[in-house]
Amino acid sequence: MPLTRKAYRAAILHSIADPAEVGIEASYEYFEDGLLVVDNGQISALGHASELLASLPADIEITHYQDALITPGFIDTHIHLPQTGMVGAYGEQLLDWLNTYTFPCESQFADQAHAEAVAEIFIKELLRNGTTTALVFGSVHPQSVNAFFEAADKLDLRMIAGKVMMDRNAPGYLTDTAESSYLESKALIERWHGKGRLHYAVTPRFAPTSTPEQLTLAGQLLGEYPDLYMQTHISENLQEVEWVKELFPERKGYLDVYDHYQLLGERSVFAHGVHLCDDECARLAQTGSAVAFCPTSNLFLGSGLFNLPMAEKHKLNVGLGTDVGGGTSFSLLQTLNEAYKVMQLQGARLSPFKSLYLATLGGARALRLEERIGTLQPGTDADFLVLDYNATPLLGYRLKQSKSIAETLFVLMTLGDDRTVAQTYATGNLVHQR
Ligand code: GUN
Ligand code: ZN
Repeated sequence: MPLTRKAYRAAILHSIADPAEVGIEASYEYFEDGLLVVDNGQISALGHASELLASLPADIEITHYQDALITPGFIDTHIHLPQTGMVGAYGEQLLDWLNTYTFPCESQFADQAHAEAVAEIFIKELLRNGTTTALVFGSVHPQSVNAFFEAADKLDLRMIAGKVMMDRNAPGYLTDTAESSYLESKALIERWHGKGRLHYAVTPRFAPTSTPEQLTLAGQLLGEYPDLYMQTHISENLQEVEWVKELFPERKGYLDVYDHYQLLGERSVFAHGVHLCDDECARLAQTGSAVAFCPTSNLFLGSGLFNLPMAEKHKLNVGLGTDVGGGTSFSLLQTLNEAYKVMQLQGARLSPFKSLYLATLGGARALRLEERIGTLQPGTDADFLVLDYNATPLLGYRLKQSKSIAETLFVLMTLGDDRTVAQTYATGNLVHQR
């Protein structure tokens, strides 16, 4: 293949560390007039345009974006593909919401054509919102995951997904068995895990919908292949937490159920964790597990307020999740808008640089992919965004008053959404143009 080299000139910003660990100023790099150089799908250089331009051949193709900010692609560490058609379902909290809306909606994915159609819509929506990597729940049907990976592979996206394992406490039309879930997951792993930029996640829905036999087999699968992910839900809703205590009275608590079945580890991501206690945070951190903070969902379903300072105290890896369709937006900018309010309601602050970290490098670390994505460091995949300062009249007017990149970033996260994402690039290819 001939070498393809392109350069992109604009204001450029990326996170390089967690502000909670190094302080805000050392957590990011900002180039007011920056240049990003991409060679064959990978970033080869990043710096001030004035310094880098001299080192480049005179005939290199340079795309210059005015009034725009280049950032790494966003990383959504928790989202449900088969809930795309039910965002904004009225009136219920978690357990009734699952029975009333979620299970009937997910049942449609038994139909291959439906799965393929929704996978197309879902991936377009991710890219329109600037999400270049997501950790995705399929439905119980393997075809939901096949359709998703097929569509993602065509665009060479870095994506992680898995088929839901669910063998009790759900309607018969939507349950598998311990054995069938094991065999179907295994077939998907053989087909997709490690193909291109795709990875597989073993996906027990949550403790109440799996028998001990199924959780045992989920743990067994994790031991059978290297670098598999595990995704599930934990301590989202108080009724759910009580139910888990009734179903597993022999365990110390909710996290201990997953711990017992060997589901904790460096590639394990637990969604929500709103009602985790101090000891559980410590155990998650000790095992290298991560939590997906899902503010729009936690507010919409009335689940509660995630305690980010407690997670930081334990140095627990935290990523950001939209949790569509419990969450109400595919946009990680809108998710950060709500995250800020969740912190305000607890008397805490969420700085715009911590927010940027959560949506990019923090997510990459939660997924153990920081060597490949989450920053614009040379040597990583060229997954990046162009955010348009003039996406709406109000945004344009408001940003003209901005006196610093901190203010600009915060306003982008408060007023921004899919309209703000002008271009999305994955491995250097333009995969969304507004
Ligand atoms: N807990 C178990 N399943 C789900 C789900 O689909 N969405 C959310 N938000 N929580 C869950
Ligand atoms: Zn979820």
